[in-house]
Amino acid sequence: MPHDRIRCAPLRARIVDAAAAAAHIGPGQTVAMSGFTGSGYPKQVPLALAERIGQAHDAGEAFQIRLLTGASTAPELDGALAKVDGIALRLPFQSDPDTRQRINDGSLAYIDAHLSHVAQHAWFGFYGEIDVAVVEAVAIREDGGIVPSTSVGNSKTWLDLAKKVIVEVNTWQPEGLEGMHDIYYGTALPPQRRPIPLEHTGDRIGETALRVDPDKIVAVVMTHGPDRNSPFSPADATSELIAGHLIEFLQHEVARGRLPASLLPLQSGVGNIPNAVLAGLAKSGFRDLTAFTEVIQDGMLDLLRSGVLASASCTGFAMSPQANEAFKREIDFFRGKIILRTQEISNHPELVRRLGCIGMNGMVEVDLYGNVNSTHIMGSRIMNGIGGSGDFARNGFLSIFLSPSTAKGGSISSIVPMVSHVDHTEHDVSIIVTEQGLADLRGLSPKQRAKVLIERCAHPDYRDALQDYFDRALRDSYGKHTPHLLPEALSWHQRWLDSGSMLG
Ligand code: COA
Repeated sequence: MPHDRIRCAPLRARIVDAAAAAAHIGPGQTVAMSGFTGSGYPKQVPLALAERIGQAHDAGEAFQIRLLTGASTAPELDGALAKVDGIALRLPFQSDPDTRQRINDGSLAYIDAHLSHVAQHAWFGFYGEIDVAVVEAVAIREDGGIVPSTSVGNSKTWLDLAKKVIVEVNTWQPEGLEGMHDIYYGTALPPQRRPIPLEHTGDRIGETALRVDPDKIVAVVMTHGPDRNSPFSPADATSELIAGHLIEFLQHEVARGRLPASLLPLQSGVGNIPNAVLAGLAKSGFRDLTAFTEVIQDGMLDLLRSGVLASASCTGFAMSPQANEAFKREIDFFRGKIILRTQEISNHPELVRRLGCIGMNGMVEVDLYGNVNSTHIMGSRIMNGIGGSGDFARNGFLSIFLSPSTAKGGSISSIVPMVSHVDHTEHDVSIIVTEQGLADLRGLSPKQRAKVLIERCAHPDYRDALQDYFDRALRDSYGKHTPHLLPEALSWHQRWLDSGSMLG
């Protein structure tokens, strides 16, 4: 088996177990790992490292690392290291309950960064030196090239910058992934930057494997384990309504000649609502769509199968176990349709702008004027992070945010007088959709935006209170351009913290 997957003979001599590999990582080091939205992350070395850290802590020794990845990983990586208090600094994205808890109790420092920025920030040296890279691979080629598995993320940058490299070769991942990747080596720091020669979402502009100096590879670990692969949850009534409003809007834009019949490249966040949107697109007569997105999820595989989606460019997967099984069976078909790129390309602001992506992302809350909070509950408690939403919201042709109009059993309104944290400013947000309806904010002044958001998107339980706030702000505000009552602007959040309901 190692011979099939490790085709570079000298590297077979570096096969060790996970504990021996993890021994290359020391306290205080910066460790950069592969992984994006629960796909393609190393599975054994992080567990072995967590065990070592736990033992060190039991012996009264300090041992923490600074952990960088592509995006979120899984319990075997983020979870295991957070549980033993093994992470001093985490970036650029996480969605793990144990990590989140430590960030929010103040014991873990977190840098929540735009996913397209991370590679260049690492090159600029903002994160210091990278001591060790740990990446998951499907195979190591004869020439030493590393064939990534189900995500590319920042692995190219990690392999370029790290002093030492550990490769996990995961035999659970299908060999048929080889050929699906497109690793572009033309990016550079300014002033050496040149235009990226990608004109269509399906263009291949790079190589099918990651380059690495073989002398840096200190350990190769054979593994056999699945990606996180969360179960698929069928769309609920709220998600279906949100998807329905959005699809009606897209059809309307086509009818008005503002979008081509095959739309523009789609970017979609992950979860219930985006899956409902994808399922809705499948039933709505659209054909030859394209995706320029971060993550391929179950719904996109269905669209590719049916021909509704012609091709999809991404940097990782977020599949259910069932979708993964089917993906493996049909991998030869999907290899002709899916291109896995580095996240500096999948999320590249210039490409997102030039291709004219339709960005569709979830949000925590939006305020009367269209500022969106994607990350913080009650302004201070992080949920996940901004992820790629800012890359697409700021630069896309359409910047769409989707959410139920209320949260926590109706005790929270997702439309608030003022957001408690801003990720996407009013200037970067064009469409808001809730189960109540769709607000098209394009071309509207702040006061006009407030009107459509209250009328179309707010839950009926909160409409009068929002209108009352707006009317009084219009009367009493210091300025009448973006009317606010400063002592009251965040009082809804405080009321929820005090009484458990924004309604009071
Ligand atoms: N106030 C308080 N809590 C809120 C809230 C609000 N206005 N809106 C949502 N939440 C809570 C929900 O109650 C839920 O909490 P729980 O896990 O304790 O039940 C959680 O946030 C997730 O909300 P949910 O309604 O299940 O939606 P989701 O899974 O679609 O997540 C975001 C919504 C905003 C958290 C998610 O889209 C995200 O992390 N976005 C930022 C990253 C991103 O956009 N990436 C894009 C490309 S992958």
